[in-house]
Amino acid sequence: MRILAIETSCDDTAVSIVEASGGFENPSFSVRAEIISSQLALHAEWGGVVPNLAKREHQKALVPALLAALSNAKLSANKTAKTEPHTTEAIQKILAREPELLEPFLETVSRIEKPDIDLIAVTRGPGLEPALWVGINFAQALSEIWRIPVVAVNHMEGHFMSALLSQKKYAFPALALLVSGGHTELVLSRDWLSYEVVGETKDDAAGEAFDKVARILGLPYPGGPQISRLADEWVALGIQKKIALPRPMLKSNDSHFSFSGLKTAVLYTVQKMGELSLQDKQELAHEFQEAVLEVLLSKTKRVLENSGAHTLILGGGVSANKELRLRLAKLIETEFPETTLHLPQGKLSMDNATMIAMAGYFRALKNEPTLSPEKISAQGTWALD
Ligand code: KG4
Ligand code: ZN
Repeated sequence: MRILAIETSCDDTAVSIVEASGGFENPSFSVRAEIISSQLALHAEWGGVVPNLAKREHQKALVPALLAALSNAKLSANKTAKTEPHTTEAIQKILAREPELLEPFLETVSRIEKPDIDLIAVTRGPGLEPALWVGINFAQALSEIWRIPVVAVNHMEGHFMSALLSQKKYAFPALALLVSGGHTELVLSRDWLSYEVVGETKDDAAGEAFDKVARILGLPYPGGPQISRLADEWVALGIQKKIALPRPMLKSNDSHFSFSGLKTAVLYTVQKMGELSLQDKQELAHEFQEAVLEVLLSKTKRVLENSGAHTLILGGGVSANKELRLRLAKLIETEFPETTLHLPQGKLSMDNATMIAMAGYFRALKNEPTLSPEKISAQGTWALD
């Protein structure tokens, strides 16, 4: 099955074309095209993602991303095909909500011959609703013009699947630590497409805490890579630490998280310290990262012990954190040798559409695609279920 996937939940406009086969028994994916158009530079100026700016950028970037994906995948781009008049009308109705998309769509996409694609997968949520709608409307218009079914995908299910590309199979029960800018959750899955959120953050997400602490330290958005770089620099200095930050909920008798107090502790420490030297920032970054990782590791270990999971999956933007990957690998190697660790490779840690295609494939296997795209609406806070 060839899948065209569209992801616009936050600040990346992503389009992938993925070949999927093997079913639930032996899933196999090959990426024909993967386009990620990042809006980072734009949002960095504001210190975080601005929903309406994100929406506008998705509107500008989607048509070029689709054309690039089709071209990279060497799928049809025959611009002479005729468009049915009724289709144009339907598309106009759908895209009236996205005027910036409508014109380039009618100019180019509506003139392209239907490519050899079996399914469109689009992120429905969770995420920023104005941003999600752009992708959904685009998917609806493509579905209308090419008569291809659309399946709606949960973004966190995408992160759950993202490590599949490197290792192919999950053995169940599988536990996933999903850590992104909007979410921090431990998800137990007993079979494909079945999820139980066994632990989650009570306030800020881990990635959000990285971003907020980076801001306190005067570092640019997104904070994760900046903090992790400074933390490495601190380790290389080999100096004894003076600063001690709390490990929120480390000893709580559950699998939940809380990172807002940790961020506040960084703020108070900085206020007390006054002007920060580079070395102060390196130490604070290191100590903050240690606090986050210690809690993430301890709660993951707790659920692994209680659930007997055969697989541990890491997903979400924070999974790009080198130290987190190393420590999870060590935990599994030393304490859970029967469990297999699955890490997303390269760009698949961050938001991308390949993971949406993979999740969409499984949803389609469960007969979830629909040709009535008006049924799909954005769901900003869609929980995994
Ligand atoms: O999954 P993602 O790309 O977008 C959301 O769905 O939220 O995650 C983005 C988050 C940001 O908060 C960013 O600071 C964090 O992932 N991040 C990291 C690292 N790289 C990105 N956090 C810690 N260490 C990193 N190396
Ligand atoms: Zn994400």
